Amino acid sequence: MASRLLPFGDDPIRPSAPVSLTITVDGVSANGIAGQSLAGVILAGGSLGFRRSSVEGKPRGVFCGIGVCFDCLVEVNGQRDVRACQRRAVDGDVVTSQHDPFPSAAGRARFDQADEEPRDG
Ligand code: FES
Repeated sequence: MASRLLPFGDDPIRPSAPVSLTITVDGVSANGIAGQSLAGVILAGGSLGFRRSSVEGKPRGVFCGIGVCFDCLVEVNGQRDVRACQRRAVDGDVVTSQHDPFPSAAGRARFDQADEEPRDG
């Protein structure tokens, strides 16, 4: 019976040598390898909180890891709302954690009031 694994030196899709990269997360350097997601590099750097929740300000990080939950939103090179689990890290990326406070109570009251106005028809 033939082996299912190729000897390492004969593997035609063997990846090339890893290329290291460095990004900055909230002013702190984090090292990774080309091909890693931003989330992977950030987590490897020891940070678990990528942003804070709008209502209570609690830390949020990688939850699903597949681009569904949006808990990993960060700002990358000035672009907001980037899902860190879906974007590959590029050497020199500047990542900033996000926090968008929930609208003020006064703003919410105006919004609720607009909903209660009578409608024609
Ligand atoms: S961890 Fe869920 S979208 Fe990134």
